[in-house]
Parts: sequence; structure tokens; C-alpha cells
Amino acid sequence: MSEVYEKLKTALSYVRGKTGFVPEVALVLGSGLGALADEIDVEATVRYSEIPGFPVSTVAGHEGRFVFGNIENVPVVIMQGRVHYYEGYDVRDVVMPIRLMGLLGAKTLFLTNAAGGINKSFAQGALMMITDHISSLVPSPLIGGNIDELGLRFPDMSEIYTKKLRDIIRESAKELSIALCEGVYIQTTGPNYETPAEIRAYETLGADAVGMSTAIEAMAARHMGLSVCGISCITNMAAGLSLVPLTHEEVKETADRVGADFKRLVKRSIAAIGR
Ligand code: HPA
Repeated sequence: MSEVYEKLKTALSYVRGKTGFVPEVALVLGSGLGALADEIDVEATVRYSEIPGFPVSTVAGHEGRFVFGNIENVPVVIMQGRVHYYEGYDVRDVVMPIRLMGLLGAKTLFLTNAAGGINKSFAQGALMMITDHISSLVPSPLIGGNIDELGLRFPDMSEIYTKKLRDIIRESAKELSIALCEGVYIQTTGPNYETPAEIRAYETLGADAVGMSTAIEAMAARHMGLSVCGISCITNMAAGLSLVPLTHEEVKETADRVGADFKRLVKRSIAAIGR
């Protein structure tokens, strides 16, 4: 058994020792978007720091725990806070929580994040459904010996964000009269924000929003056969498109401001996914 898989199995036994809860949907809450986890019907929580071998976030305000419970009667496991590649962990450790949620039984991965808007038609505070992604200088989480127990050596990524789930999110936004844009997310390593020249380059490449997470998580989940979808909160316009320097405070403030619509949309979408 590979070392990565062994570590994953140890973490799985630990969590299974705490709760027998079987989630249907795994939800990752991005920067400033963690409040949704405080509103659900909680069955159990497990802090990342308790789990043997688990990566732990070093960023203030990125709470790190799994919350198990129900959203509109759909069993979910929520990652309240995620670990990022820029914290210095191996990319395989960064996706370990995603893989663990898959092994716990989740069939769908719902990713959310804070992102900078590259598409000039977007406004600060917009919600963007992710249609596809580009990974920029971030290594694939599948590098190294393949974990045959999880998936194929050369997995297909041609529909990484499942069309059926995209249709559900679009329909849910319409029902709630929430404006929703759509676009391609590009993941950079961070932790620095981008330069204006990089943003112009990413626009040419076809990206609509930029952030420091998500693409590698989507890849790890697709590898193991989960259906994947995602929503970005455009917390700021990307470098060179805004008159003010980018700050983490601005990101958190905007995420807070649009938090109510974000929560309604995620909840409605999860209810529909569970149907
Ligand atoms: N760039 C990268 N990551 C981000 C941004 C950004 O502008 N905003 C929120 N996360």
C-alpha cells in the first residue's frame, strides 16, 4: 500500500472512531464563507488537528474542522476551513481531506472559494459558478505512485465540473433570483496576489477568476470518481483591475457582505442534489 494511502486509511479510522455518519455531499467552505457550517443541524465535529497525519491550516480565520450534519435533510460533511498549497504542505497532503471525505462516503464534492475577478464584466461581490479550471504552476495532486484503490493512473478531466450539477446550481440561482455568473477558475500557488501582467496573461488563457485553491481538490475528487461542482465568490477584482491594493481583509469583508445569498444558493443547490 502506498504511503499516501496508508496515511489516509489511518485518518479514516480515526474519524470513523468519532462518528459513523455517512455523508452524501462533501462541502468545502472557502475564506470568509465558513459561517454556513454554524447554521446546520450538527451531528458531530472533528478538528483537523486531532486527526493523525492531517495538515492543519496556519492562516488566522481559516477554522479547521469537519462538521457532519444535515442541510435540508441531505447528509453532508463540511470542511470549515481548508489547507492551502502555499502553506508549504506537499500537494498530496493538501488534498488528503478531500480524499478522506470521499472515503467517508461522499458522492458529490461541492467546492467554494474566494476569488479575484478577471472577467471585466464581473463586479466585486458576484457569485460565479465554476465551469472548468486551469492550474497554473501548481503540481497535480496525482503525482507519485498511483493509488489504484482510488482511481486510474491517467484519469479523464474533460468534464471535471459535472454538467448535471452545473444545471442544478444554475436552476437554484434562478429560483432564488440570485444573479449568477459562470466561468473558468485558475489556481495559482499564492500566497502573494498576482501582478497585473499575470492577470492579463490569465485573461488571454481563458480564465475568468483567480484563486489559490480548488483546482487540485477537484482533480483529486474526480480521480476517485466523485461528481464535482463549485462556486467562487468574487471578493475583489484581480490585480490591475482595481484601484486599491489587494488585501485579505477586503476578501473577508466582501465574503461577509454576500454571505447571505451565498448560503441560500449553496443550501438550495444541496437540497436539489439530494433529491
Ligand atoms: N487572487 C488570488 N486569490 C484570491 C484573490 C485574488 O485576487 N481574491 C481572493 N482570493
